Amino acid sequence: MTYLVLVWTTVTCLCWTSGSAQVQAQQNPKKVIRYPKINSNETLVCECHQDTCDNFLWFRSLENGTQLQFLVSVNNAGRNTHNNNLDASRFKATMNNVKSVLRITKVTWEDSGLYSCVSKDKKTEGVWKSGILLLPGVTPPAPTRKPKPEDPVCGCQKESHIVQRKFSRLAPRNA
Ligand SMILES: *[C@@H]1O[C@H](CO)[C@@H](O)[C@H](O)[C@H]1NC(C)=O
Ligand SMILES: *[C@@H]1O[C@H](CO)[C@@H](O)[C@H](O)[C@H]1NC(C)=O
Repeated sequence: MTYLVLVWTTVTCLCWTSGSAQVQAQQNPKKVIRYPKINSNETLVCECHQDTCDNFLWFRSLENGTQLQFLVSVNNAGRNTHNNNLDASRFKATMNNVKSVLRITKVTWEDSGLYSCVSKDKKTEGVWKSGILLLPGVTPPAPTRKPKPEDPVCGCQKESHIVQRKFSRLAPRNA
């Protein structure tokens, strides 16, 4: 699995230029890997870098971080602009203020790659978000066995209050 290490170390400086906008890829500390079945549908989510965004762009690159390919952009009217070399019917992007969802239907072997996105608003030129490695048709590695957790001590009532507070703080403002 040494090639996976390559992904996260070589992806550090991919640059994308369009007009005056230039964004830089950031290294992804989280190694997010998905193993969709061939012909299944996959959805990827991209969070806005701040409270509200006006558009999102989706990209993919090879596993080793090379050959960055623009896929599709979506604006806040829901309009998609695709790369002409792409089967547009299989790549649909939607968005609201806080996130964008890329839906890939009928996933193929060729969809394998590192998917990432750029979120934008009127003021910022674009913020590159960490990628998800998609490996269609690949058998996921067997999960490593974790040591059995110790029985939790029950402090149920107190804890449920804490949990509730945490969730209400995390809830999106305009939900
Ligand atoms: C994938 O999406 C397509 C189009 O929305 C749908 O027709 C199909 O049933 C879906 N396939 C799966 C496996 O969910
Ligand atoms: C990345 O992978 C592609 C396809 O496997 C290969 O052609 C290219 O040379 C690789 N680039 C690097 C820097 O390893």
